[in-house]
Amino acid sequence: MPRISPAAALLLPLLLLLLSLSPIARVGSHQESGEWSCESDSEVLIEAAFRPGAITLDGHGDDWKDVEGSEFSLLPALDPDEDKEYGGGKMTVKAAHDGSSVFFLLQVDGNYAYSKGENTKCPSVSLMFQIGESASYHNMGGCKVGPDACTNKTCKGHEVDIMHFSIGNAIPGRLYGGNPIDNREGNGGDRFGHLVDLYGWSPHCRYIDGTGPTGNDTSAQNNWNGAWWHSSFTVHSGFVEEDSPYASDGQKGTYYFEFSRPLRTMDRIQQDAQFTIGESSKMSVAFWYPVNGNPWHGSGHFSINCDWVPLDISLGGSSLTKTASPGSWDATTAFSLLLSVVSLCLSVFVMYRVFRPRSVQYKPMEVALG
Ligand SMILES: *[C@@H]1O[C@H](CO)[C@@H](O)[C@H](O)[C@H]1NC(C)=O
Ligand SMILES: *[C@@H]1O[C@H](CO)[C@@H](O)[C@H](O)[C@H]1NC(C)=O
Repeated sequence: MPRISPAAALLLPLLLLLLSLSPIARVGSHQESGEWSCESDSEVLIEAAFRPGAITLDGHGDDWKDVEGSEFSLLPALDPDEDKEYGGGKMTVKAAHDGSSVFFLLQVDGNYAYSKGENTKCPSVSLMFQIGESASYHNMGGCKVGPDACTNKTCKGHEVDIMHFSIGNAIPGRLYGGNPIDNREGNGGDRFGHLVDLYGWSPHCRYIDGTGPTGNDTSAQNNWNGAWWHSSFTVHSGFVEEDSPYASDGQKGTYYFEFSRPLRTMDRIQQDAQFTIGESSKMSVAFWYPVNGNPWHGSGHFSINCDWVPLDISLGGSSLTKTASPGSWDATTAFSLLLSVVSLCLSVFVMYRVFRPRSVQYKPMEVALG
């Protein structure tokens, strides 16, 4: 527990009261007469704290229990109306980093739905990040150029980075995303589990990393990895494809989607977001679900907010002080006190040696050189 100053102790209950009065991540926005408006809560934030050696990328949520998450209402991305909120509940988004990679956990309640090979009859998730400084959340970068004219020149500055995971061919608990075969071809695809690395300038101009409207650049990679899980599963030793659908349809439970990516990638063509420790990025999370068993369609996704959500990649040091327990603080204080007493004694001793009367003649020490 971090120490709390008296002033903070007074402010804390007030803050908690204010927080309880305003629902978390309240979103007030409508798309009336084609005009987009979004009143995003300025308090929303996803914090990636420094947690080295804490997270295993297996789709399970247990190792995240000490990581604080942010809770979001899931509203339709294209019509964020509170009456149309996802019926399963809110989504918790957690993030962490270990100094070289960033990790995400998306946790959302949902009755089990899985139909092998049919992505649109399974839940699906996507992460989106700002790359170009002019890239808006709305319209995935917001490049105004038509679908036939969007290129890396006409849409310069509107680049967004997208990770999309469709689980219809992904075995729960198994790792998908960047793999040697697709990465050797130099693109962001994933032929095994469809956990793909994309970029875009607008909803009509989206491409797998390394491909584009003006030609392909085979220097790209799929830098993402991830896994999924549902709390109704009982097997922990490992599923294989023949176990599909892994659990019976409609079971109550929680879906987990877990991802990681290096903070920096070798992207040279503005198709990946780059994260910096101690700095903030902009992100969003989308969720598709086959509501009442009906297959979803591409634009029928829910979103955690109607604008970018800041993603803070915390400095390692600040997180360490936060987690230091009062006990170890006391040990540190005692040690530094001991150290200062020792150095005081040492300086008194040195003073005595320097100023004491010289009774013994100085004798040069003989050094044998040969
Ligand atoms: C670029 O790559 C995509 C996907 O591999 C392929 O379909 C397309 O034909 C390629 N385009 C060119 C110009 O080589
Ligand atoms: C646009 O993409 C093409 C194909 O990858 C590449 O050759 C060209 O250098 C890019 N132009 C800019 C301005 O990034």
